[in-house]
Amino acid sequence: MAEAVILTSGNGSNFQAICEAVSETEHKIAAMICNKKDAYSFVRAEKLGIPAYHVPYLGRDRKDAEKEIDELLTRLHPDLIVLAGFMKLLSPEMTKKYEGKIINIHPALLPKYPGTHGIEESFASSDKELGVTVHYVDAGMDTGKVIRQKSFVRTGLESLDEIETRIHACEHEIYPQVVIELLNCLEEEK
Ligand code: GRF
Repeated sequence: MAEAVILTSGNGSNFQAICEAVSETEHKIAAMICNKKDAYSFVRAEKLGIPAYHVPYLGRDRKDAEKEIDELLTRLHPDLIVLAGFMKLLSPEMTKKYEGKIINIHPALLPKYPGTHGIEESFASSDKELGVTVHYVDAGMDTGKVIRQKSFVRTGLESLDEIETRIHACEHEIYPQVVIELLNCLEEEK
């Protein structure tokens, strides 16, 4: 069995999709860590029976918040750290310390449209092919090595809401798959 910890900031739909898929395997989601006290991901965690921790960033330095996250990670000792809608940029110290162990999902076909407006920027572009990217996390903003992408071709008649729904459907399909495949590899390496 290999274990993952998931970091979120809000809705937590990817967190839930991953938990549901992983529950069908020998692996385990050990905990969810969220920086927003009122995030819906806490409701999901309770329903899923996953231990959840609030680590605030508001009103304090990033290094203090990261120290708390790091302490939790040291205690939980996961094989994999999964960012799922975690809206904080991790410091170079954190990404270096956990190099090769942190992954993220981005709602665009990287290297296009990094940052927090991936969906809106993809939608506003003239690109016909849109999609999502799972990648390793490095010190940059959505710059780490790509693990997998899934795309679809739009007609151009879709609304932003419709595109957003398709993007989330791609995320919920490939992110759990990649997490389970990585947990399988990490388990074999033990
Ligand atoms: C997803 O679109 C993800 O790609 C982006 O933030 C969103 C999080 O959604 N980084 P959710 O919290 O998993 O529902």
